[in-house]
Amino acid sequence: MKINSCNFLNISVKLLVTFSISFTSSLIPFKRSSPPKQILNLSPSGFRKLSTLIMDGVNSKDSEPSYDAKVKVLGENLESTSFASVVNADDPEIRDVEIYMKSDKDKATDFANYFCSYAFLYHQKQMLTDHKRMEAYYSAVMDNADVFQDKVVLDVGTGSGVLAVWSAHAGARKVYAIEYTDMAKHARRLVKANGVEHVVEVIQSSVEELELPEKVDIIISEWMGYFLLRESMLDSVIKARDRFLNPGGFMFPSHATMYWAPIQNERERLSRQQEYCSTMQDWFSFKDETRDKYNLNMECLELQFEQEQRHYYVTTGGWTELWRDAVVGEPFVVKQIDLTTCTQPEIAGVQELAFECPIITQSPTRVSGFAGWFSTDFRGNGERTLPCPVTLSTSPEVGYTHWGQQVFYFDNAIDCSPGDVVKGNFKMVRQRDNIRLYNIYSSHCVRRMNGVDGPLVQTKYEMP
Ligand SMILES: C[S@@+](CC[C@H](N)C(=O)[O-])C[C@H]1O[C@@H](n2cnc3c(N)ncnc32)[C@H](O)[C@@H]1O
Repeated sequence: MKINSCNFLNISVKLLVTFSISFTSSLIPFKRSSPPKQILNLSPSGFRKLSTLIMDGVNSKDSEPSYDAKVKVLGENLESTSFASVVNADDPEIRDVEIYMKSDKDKATDFANYFCSYAFLYHQKQMLTDHKRMEAYYSAVMDNADVFQDKVVLDVGTGSGVLAVWSAHAGARKVYAIEYTDMAKHARRLVKANGVEHVVEVIQSSVEELELPEKVDIIISEWMGYFLLRESMLDSVIKARDRFLNPGGFMFPSHATMYWAPIQNERERLSRQQEYCSTMQDWFSFKDETRDKYNLNMECLELQFEQEQRHYYVTTGGWTELWRDAVVGEPFVVKQIDLTTCTQPEIAGVQELAFECPIITQSPTRVSGFAGWFSTDFRGNGERTLPCPVTLSTSPEVGYTHWGQQVFYFDNAIDCSPGDVVKGNFKMVRQRDNIRLYNIYSSHCVRRMNGVDGPLVQTKYEMP
């Protein structure tokens, strides 16, 4: 269910809502220098209603549900609309809802953490030299030029402007190319240098704040992060779709799929563990030296340091470029997204699901951990298939892309044989403090050929 002002009005009128700080002054988003925080003291049923509305159907008991929502808050003699981050408390039956209005400071933080790198040509060039990426988008647009003929296109996050230029080359009547960062200025130059300034209008804005004079027939965007969802830019694309895409319009890409598979990469797993051991050795020397030289006992910090380092080297995911044979279990599809119809809660992570990956090697192997990757498809919508469908895959099978794969190693590798099945549960949720980043909860064990399950191991990985 989408949030709209009528729903919210109905609910807010029914609820006994007490604001612990001044209502009027704190509901003016984007204009304040300090981030206002609202505590709404709600009854348990009130909480449930509100969280259903705001979380838009997401399971409110999920451990880290936090994402942006456009919330219209209505009260006596007051109406204000804002983007807000809604953070669920641990026990939704009894705890308060906290609404953080997005302030200038929040936007500045998001810019510092996320957008700023996109303002550099250096970063854009990394993407422009990823030929698998470039070829897929180029083919998707140019081989389907008939679909672009005389159409209005919205390029969400145009960056240097390439997708907008290609859309114009393919025959679009008008292209709105939206870019939040100063890269928009470079995009304007690129558009002019490629002779399509009469078609492409570069607008420097966040797509969330965009106003357009017309609806569009096609939305094109390259929004994918590591393991598809990192960066959460898909949120912006979906908001744009809901506001601007004509019924029957096309999303480019139109579908996305996430894969999870057991891998063998002992060299990297052991090298990480070796680094962890070296760091601890270094700590022990440091501790002795500090005691001998400065008469300081550092023992009390050892456990914390060890946990910090273990987290960094062992339970944090990482970027890797795997070779084809590193995948030793059948890849399991953990998520499929139809860009034309998906809702925001659907794309806020991957709800817990069970997976089974039969070993696919011909001889015994050692499983070092898991890898995650994705593919996207340009194949049309439910009403019309594209004349020339295109797939962009980041699987180890296809070779280098700048996305590579995300790897998550085990503490202890597991020896497996053909006929064994690596099985477990998988869940991916947004980090509480930064919705552009994710945590992965994975459990795994091996079902042997004789049907007996080995011990279950549970790990929480951070995907930085
Ligand atoms: C992965 S880059 C793709 C750039 C370009 N379309 C290409 O394919 O080379 C994503 C771009 O989208 C921009 N962007 C991300 N979120 C945005 C938003 N909400 N509004 C406007 N631009 C956004 C980023 O600044 C970045 O330049």
